[in-house]
Formats: sequence, C-alpha cells, structure tokens
Amino acid sequence: MIIEIMFKEPIYVTRPLLPKLHEVCSRLDQVWESKWLTNNGPQQHKLEEELKKYLQAENLSLFNNGTLALLLGLKALDITGEVITTPFTFPATVQALDWNNLTPVFCDIEPTTLTLDAAKIESLITDKTSAILAVHTFGNPCDVEQIQAIANKYKLKVIYDGAHVFGAKVGGHPISKFGDMTMFSFHATKLFNTVEGGGLVYHDANLSETLNQLKNFGIANSDEVKISGLNAKLNEIQSVIGIEVLKMIEDERHKRHEIKRVYERNLAEIPGISVLTKLEGENSSYQYFVIQIEEELYGKSRDMVFEKLKEFNVFTRKYFYPLCSDFQWYKHLESARKENLPFAQKAVKQVLAMPFYGELQLESVEKICKVIRDFI
Ligand SMILES: Cc1ncc(COP(=O)(O)O)c(C=O)c1O
Repeated sequence: MIIEIMFKEPIYVTRPLLPKLHEVCSRLDQVWESKWLTNNGPQQHKLEEELKKYLQAENLSLFNNGTLALLLGLKALDITGEVITTPFTFPATVQALDWNNLTPVFCDIEPTTLTLDAAKIESLITDKTSAILAVHTFGNPCDVEQIQAIANKYKLKVIYDGAHVFGAKVGGHPISKFGDMTMFSFHATKLFNTVEGGGLVYHDANLSETLNQLKNFGIANSDEVKISGLNAKLNEIQSVIGIEVLKMIEDERHKRHEIKRVYERNLAEIPGISVLTKLEGENSSYQYFVIQIEEELYGKSRDMVFEKLKEFNVFTRKYFYPLCSDFQWYKHLESARKENLPFAQKAVKQVLAMPFYGELQLESVEKICKVIRDFI
C-alpha cells in the first residue's frame, strides 16, 4: 500500500505561481534599459493600474510585503490604544499592532468560518478601543455588515487583514469595499505573488500622500522628512513579476476549482473531516483548501494526520498555529485567557491546510484523500 501511494517528489502545501521565464526576461529588459530599479518606477505604476482594475479598487498603495503594508496602514489611520482582533491568525496581524504600540484585545472566533465572532466584539470595547482588526481567514469573509454596524455605533475604524482574499467578492462587491482599509499579501505562497509584496486598498483618498511618505522613510520632499516612516517600497523587479503573474490568475483559479472539487468528493464521506473553505466562483479567493479534523469522530488527531501524510511525502501545514494569544508577550492579557477563547482553542488543534496549487495533479489529490480515508 505504502509503495502504491508514496509520492516520489515531495508535495507541498503551496507552490508559487511562476510566469514563463522568457516573458519575465523580456519585461526585465525594459527595467535594465531604464536603469530604474525602485522608487515609483514605471513597472510599479503599471502593476498598480492593473491591480486597481482587477481588484476594483479606487485607492491602492503597494508595499514590499503585506506585514509592512498593514503596519503602516494602521499608522496612517492613526489608530491608538486598544484594537479588537482575532487570536487565530498569522503572527503578522498582531505584530503589526505591536510595532505601532497598540494593544490587541483578543476576541474569539465563530466556529464555521473561523473569523472574528462579531457577536462577541461589543463586550470587549472600552474607552481605549479605536479599531477592529479582523482577518478574512483562509478566504472566508468576516461578518462585514455586523462589524461595520458595531464600528459605526462606537466610531471605530475597521481594518481587514485580507492576506487570503485576493480578488474575492462578497455579495457581488469586491471584498475591499468593506472596512476603512484592506491589506492584501503578495507573498510567494499567495495566489497572486510578487515574490514578496503587499497592497493596501482604502477609501479615504487623503491617505495616499501619507502612505507614500510612510513607505519611503517619511520623506515629504527634498527638504522635509515629515513623519517617522520605514523603507517598505515595492521595487521594479517585484513589479515585473506581478505584472506577469496577474495574467495567469484566472487560469490558476480554474485549476484550483477543479482540485477543490476532487478533494470535496473524496473527503465527503469521512466522519470527522469537514471542509472549512467552502466558497466557490467569484466569492472564493481559491487561496487555501483547509480541513478540520474532529478527533472524537475521526478517531485520530490533526497532528496524527499531519505526521501520517509526511510518511507519504506530503507536507501539509498546521495553519494557523500556535494561537497569537499564547505568544509569550501576550499571554498575560485578560483577553488572552484560554477560557475566553474556546473556539480559537479548538480550531488551533483541528485545522490543517492541504496541498493546493494549480499544478497539483488531480490523481495526487485522490491519493492524498485515500491516505486520510485509510488512516481510520
Ligand atoms: C493572515 C495573514 N496576515 C499577514 C500575513 C503576512 O503577509 P506577508 O507575508 O506578505 O508579510 C500573512 C502571510 O501569510 C497571513 O497569512
């Protein structure tokens, strides 16, 4: 059995979407000719215009990664004091708060989408709260209407970590329509990548100047450094990759759609295994395919499945793991107490991101599912 299913080459959870090298090279020729490598070059402008169209964004600012985009976005919005956020996220979400001297107030997630539980936000609001930082977890959109209603009532800003929702829609609208600002990550593991990169989509056009300064050391003009910024610019080479990768997105989405179908068909009858990333078509970002494993029903834990798949050369990912509320520097917080976060505590032990990328063979997906089926 092992010989039959064992993969010769390792199967990873993601593989970067790589454009044809000769197409990248021919665009790189233009960069070489211009001798303009970074700081608002023509390739960055082209990418910005194309992304604005693709994301239906009025205002977009590009950065050299999603973490710095979020960090500087929070600064541009002048967020202070406490921010209500989720413990079930990638460290970057809360680290962006930390570097702005902001205190996270952890709010539990709701069990079906694993996004911030909007019904629990209000009880955590104090006179120090200035914003809600929510995550569209694995491409599952947050309860955007409810979150906005709370934000309006208490005059809070809403920022979305949209690292997983490139190109997704909610009720026919681009997901970045909701909230004051949405961050997208263009990391190599993301559907759309610029190797490393990120973007902010925001409503208030007045923020553009501040964001441009913040990502360029706070420099306002040749005589003035106006604010304390950083170096967070997307460069011309990253932009070239982005321009070429963007052409491949629709095809990649179709391939991932097929892969998702095969996973769903093959996992459907297994007790204790459920799919967390259910959305399809324009509502889906096709970023991840994530399952939840309930040990009581399946008979084996998530960690056991993770290890078992490794024996077959399949490398899944415990994502997100561990909880941000368990970080050494946060676990003393009242909101980080385990009893306040029961669904996050459960999810962190049950969730597994499966291999999911267009080049993954459908036959390989069937074999991976067979390992999971045969394991019980
Ligand atoms: C939810 C979330 N937020 C933020 C980030 C950080 O983005 P980047 O790697 O572009 O800095 C990631 C990266 O995977 C993420 O998953």
